[in-house]
Amino acid sequence: MHKAIEEAVQKFLEISEKKPVRIISHHDTDGITAAAIMISTLKRLDRIFSVNILKQFPENISSKNEMLVFLDMGSSNLHNLSEIKDVFVIDHHEITSKKPDNVIFINPHLFGEEQISASGLVYLFAKNIDKQNTGLANLALIGMVGDMLEKNISKLNNLIIEDAEVTIKKGLLLYPSTRPIHKTLEFSSSMFIPGVTGNSRGVLEVLKEAGIEKINGEYKSLIELTEEENSKLITSILLRRIDKNNSEVIGNIYLVKVFNKLEDARELSAMINACSRLGFSEISLLICLGNKQARLKAEKIYADYKQHLIAALNFVSTNKIIGKNYIIVNAKENIKDTIIGTVASIISVSSMYEEGTIIITMAYCEDKIKVSARIAGRNGRNVREILESVTSKIGGETGGHAQAAGCYISRENEEAFIKCLTKILDIEVVKI
Ligand code: C5P
Ligand code: C5P
Repeated sequence: MHKAIEEAVQKFLEISEKKPVRIISHHDTDGITAAAIMISTLKRLDRIFSVNILKQFPENISSKNEMLVFLDMGSSNLHNLSEIKDVFVIDHHEITSKKPDNVIFINPHLFGEEQISASGLVYLFAKNIDKQNTGLANLALIGMVGDMLEKNISKLNNLIIEDAEVTIKKGLLLYPSTRPIHKTLEFSSSMFIPGVTGNSRGVLEVLKEAGIEKINGEYKSLIELTEEENSKLITSILLRRIDKNNSEVIGNIYLVKVFNKLEDARELSAMINACSRLGFSEISLLICLGNKQARLKAEKIYADYKQHLIAALNFVSTNKIIGKNYIIVNAKENIKDTIIGTVASIISVSSMYEEGTIIITMAYCEDKIKVSARIAGRNGRNVREILESVTSKIGGETGGHAQAAGCYISRENEEAFIKCLTKILDIEVVKI
C-alpha cells in the first residue's frame, strides 16, 4: 500500500497545482479528522481548497474543473465517478463497487492490509507529502479511537501511535478520564454499567464500595486514582456486568496533546462526533484545527447530545423486537437518524446481549429510513453482507464494514425490510 500511496501522492501534487481541491468527507469523527489532516496538508502546500462534510455519499456529483478528494466514503460508489476527471478516493470501507480507470483509489482492502481508519490513511498520505506533517498524527489517533480501531493495534496503527504525542495509560475504558469520576460514571455511554449509568445514586454506591471519597469536596478523575482505588473500582464494575469480558472494560486510555493540554482521545472523539451529528460539522472541523472558541461551543453541544442519547437509550429499553440471535429497534421518528448508528454502537458494547448478537436499529430520515447494524461484542457474522442481502431484494444502498454497516431504504419498505430481515436472520440460526 505504501507504494500506491507514493504514486497517488505524485499525481495529487501535480493536479492540485493546477486545480482547486474539493475535499468531500464523512460526518463522523474519522471523516472529520481525515478532512482536518487533508486541510492542514493543503495549507502547508499553499493550495486552494474547499470542504464539504456529508452524512453519506452524494446522490449527484459534478465537478467544476476541480480535483475531487473523497475521504472516508466512496468504496461502495466508485462506479458513480466514472465521468469525473481527477478524482481521488481515500477510504477504508469494504469495496463493493467496480473501480473505473479514472479514479485514484487508496483502500487497505485492496492490499489485504490490516484495519486502519480513513484518518490514518490520510495521515500516511500527508506524511508521504511532507515529513513535517507528523504533527498531524494526533488527529489520526483521535480518528482511530473514533472508529474503535485502537483495541487491536495493527502495524499500520502502530506507525501512527509512534508519531503521535500521546501518553498511554491502562485503565477503565470510561471517558472522560480527565474529569471527576462520579460524572464520568453517570454519563458514560461508551460502557453501560447496569444500575450505575444514568443513575446518580448507583454511582455513589459504586464509589463507596471502591473506597473512593471526595477530597476537598471534589472527586478525583479516573487517571488520578491510585492503583488500589482503580483496581477496586474495576472489580465493582465487573461485578455489575453480566459478561466477564474484561477487554471491553479495561484497556488503553489515550491522552493526546491538543490545545496544549492532555486530553482523553475518546472524549475528544465523542465531542467531535456529537457536534457533527447534531448538524455542526464546521465546529467539529474547527476543533480539529485548534480553534478555542469552537471548543467552547462544542462543550454545550456535547452536553445536549448526551441528553439526546440518554433519551434514545431509554426509548430502546422498551421498544424492540427480540429474536434468538438478534434485536431490531424500529425507532421511527423517536430517534434522530444521525444518532441511530451511535445508539447501535452503544448497545453493541453494552454487555446486554450475548457476543455475536446482531443489532439492527432503524430511524426515519426524511422520506427514507436509516438502518444501522452492529455485532454485540466484536465477533460475529458480517453485518454488511446481511444488510446487503436484504437491500438487494427490496432496494436500498448498503455499505460499511463486517462489524458495522448501514443502509438507507425507502419508507414504503419499512415492513418489507423487517419481514425480509427477520426471515434471513431466523434462517441463519437454523444453518448454524
Ligand atoms: O463510517 P465509518 O466506518 O467511520 O463508521 C463508523 C462507525 O462504525 C462507528 O460506530 C465505529 O465504531 C464503527 N466501526 C466499527 N468497526 C470498524 C469500523 C467502524 O465498529 N472496523
Ligand atoms: O451509519 P452507521 O454508523 O450505522 O454506519 C456504519 C458503517 O456503514 C459506517 O462505516 C458507514 O460509513 C457505513 N455506511 C455506508 N453506506 C450507507 C450507510 C452506512 O457505507 N448507506
